[in-house]
Formats: sequence, structure tokens, C-alpha cells
Amino acid sequence: MTAKIFHNDDTVTAPVITIDGPTASGKGTISRLLAERLGWEILDSGALYRLLGLKALQQNLPLDDEPALAQLALELDIRFSGSDTDEEIQVFLDNTNVSDEIRTEKSGAAASKVAALPQVRAALLDKQRAFRQPPGLIADGRDMGTVVFPDAQVKIFLTASAQERAKRRYNQLIEKGVSVRLSDLFEEIAERDKRDSNRSAAPLIAAEDAVELDTSEITAEQAALRILELYQNSINP
Ligand code: DC
Repeated sequence: MTAKIFHNDDTVTAPVITIDGPTASGKGTISRLLAERLGWEILDSGALYRLLGLKALQQNLPLDDEPALAQLALELDIRFSGSDTDEEIQVFLDNTNVSDEIRTEKSGAAASKVAALPQVRAALLDKQRAFRQPPGLIADGRDMGTVVFPDAQVKIFLTASAQERAKRRYNQLIEKGVSVRLSDLFEEIAERDKRDSNRSAAPLIAAEDAVELDTSEITAEQAALRILELYQNSINP
């Protein structure tokens, strides 16, 4: 099913499906389902911003020191493992497993702040594009279709109401044994949405050629099937 994309200079690059959307819109789950079905790799670009946020916190670096953060982004020593197995992808920073630590609200809030800085975003571009390898890549984030992979074969923009997304995040955290209040999560999500959508550098918007998919009323499996259909149509029109 894998398609090749030929560029004008005859180089061949692997196909990419971009999955953009706000916090807890289902990007991670849907990306994993797609990667399993297609046998492709996943780029969890949010994890890169979270890793940078975490590293900055560890170094007590102010989260608005743009040149220092951009330099830190270039030097990040990161590794993802387990993407080719059924297990959750493990994330390493300086050879330490930080998979749980980068998922905390503290790392998420730091990620959202450093992600607003244009020099940081530029510094992470090459790292993200290096994930594009045969047989293909599912790229999960906010600006995958608009900035990082503008020539992606299929671009998806996921939406879901803030209430629905807060409820999902609530259930995920309760399942992990973390005690939280739904109303706090709703406020945090609304706050994060506002910051990610209003920043001037690569704000959260759908690419012009993206297909919008509202996941409020459908399951992740149904969304993944719809995306697979779109991909198949794109290679066999
Ligand atoms: O998807 P996530 O919650 O792991 O992302 C963490 C933060 O990183 C989020 O506030 C927005 C930012 N981010 C971004 O600006 N661009 C991306 N491609 C991915 C994430």
C-alpha cells in the first residue's frame, strides 16, 4: 500500500500522513492505530517540545530565553524506542527514561511556553524531518501539515469539544491513579488551546488542504479507518 512521492529533482521520499489538532483530540491514539495498520513510524512532535521544556526546567533556564532555548533544542540528546512493538513508545533524555515525566502538567505547560518561540521551532525542524523514513511516517502535532511536512500525502485536522477533551484526559489520568478535578482540567485545556492558537509562530490552524475530522462522536478506530480510506484514495484515485 506504500506509495512513493517523487520530487522535481527525482529524489524519492517516504509518504507522510499528518495528524494535527488540539490537546486530547485523539491524535496519539489515532496515530498509533494508523502506524500499526500501515507498519509506519510515528513522530510524536509534542514529545520533542515536552523534552525541551523538561530539560529547561532541569537546568533552571528561564522559559523565555529564546536564544538559549534554541541552542538547547539543537543539542537535545533524545531517543525514542519501542515504536515497532505493541508497547508504548519510551522516551529517553540523556539516556534516562523520562516517558512519565514528560507527560506531567508541569512539562506540558513548559512545552507550551517554549513552543511559542520561533527560534526554538526552527531549531527542531530538522530533528522532526529526520523521522521521515520508508515505508512511511505518521506525524502527530500542531503544525505537521502546515510547516513541517507541507507536502504530506494526507493531512488531517482533528477537532473535539473542549468538554469532551477534558473528559478524555480525566479518564486517562484516573485510570493511571492520578487524582484530578474535571473542572481544573477543562480550564487547563482551554488555557492551553488559547496559547497554542494565538501565538504568532506556527499557531494551531488547519492546513488549507487538510481534512477536518470531529472526533467528539466517533471512536478512535472509526477515525483511523476514515483516514486509511483517505490515504488509499490518495494513492489510487
Ligand atoms: O501534543 P502535546 O500536548 O504533547 O504538546 C505539548 C505542547 O507542545 C503543546 O502545548 C503544543 C506544543 N506543540 C507544538 O507547538 N507543536 C507541535 N508540533 C507539537 C506540540
